[in-house]
Amino acid sequence: MRILVVGATGTLGKNVVNALQTHHAQYGEGTLDILGASRLSSEYVVDCQDDLSVRSLFEKVGIVDAVVSTIGGAKWASASEADLGTYKTTLDGKLLCQLRIALAARNHVSLGGSITLTSGIVGNYVFHGGSPSAIVNIGLDAFVKSASAEFSNLRINTVSPTVLEESASAYASVFPGFQSVSGAVAGAAYVRSVYGAETGQIIKVWG
Ligand SMILES: NC(=O)c1ccc[n+]([C@@H]2O[C@H](COP(=O)([O-])OP(=O)(O)OC[C@H]3O[C@@H](n4cnc5c(N)ncnc54)[C@H](OP(=O)(O)O)[C@@H]3O)[C@@H](O)[C@H]2O)c1
Repeated sequence: MRILVVGATGTLGKNVVNALQTHHAQYGEGTLDILGASRLSSEYVVDCQDDLSVRSLFEKVGIVDAVVSTIGGAKWASASEADLGTYKTTLDGKLLCQLRIALAARNHVSLGGSITLTSGIVGNYVFHGGSPSAIVNIGLDAFVKSASAEFSNLRINTVSPTVLEESASAYASVFPGFQSVSGAVAGAAYVRSVYGAETGQIIKVWG
């Protein structure tokens, strides 16, 4: 199994890599080859805001069985004050980056393979400063639902996590009373998407 994880060095990405490795150690057959990519990666360098860079990444990795994206930084800003640039930064940094990965991945995923994108709880519930993320997360979920109907040879899902325990202290004021989840639990949702049968699903990890 060859799996490309874009964003493998991030808080969520590291947990996804761990979960895939743990699953393989317990249940996997054959070899597991996880290819990690990001801007500062020691394996595959890519800037997902750049078409050429993404194309070059996929030319280098060739055919894989699964592509997982755990990238994207969001701007938190009140809709009563945020300017268009704030929304554009979040759209570029998360929605368009992941869409760019998904579109490029279509020709590099083996028959029956999968693409897994990352959205999030923001947008499904209302959070202070969450409107930029809301647009992006709901947009990614909508893309996956629609695209799955037209992808005949591959599966595509989003994983939609709530805040991770590993990130909770930084977002304590944003998620008051919301249950955080461990990176291991979030990581298992990616295992479900990669190894399972589902397509067009928003796999919610909301505690
Ligand atoms: N952490 C949470 O609690 C949580 C909860 C729900 C949803 N999410 C979502 O999960 C995703 C990841 O969050 P995170 O907390 O893991 O963030 P993070 O720790 O900042 O990790 C982001 C990862 O993406 C890579 N990256 C960022 N921009 C990139 C670009 N333009 N091209 C290529 N790689 C890029 C980073 O590596 P480089 O810097 O080397 O490029 C890093 O590996 C985000 O979409 C976030 O909204 C996170």
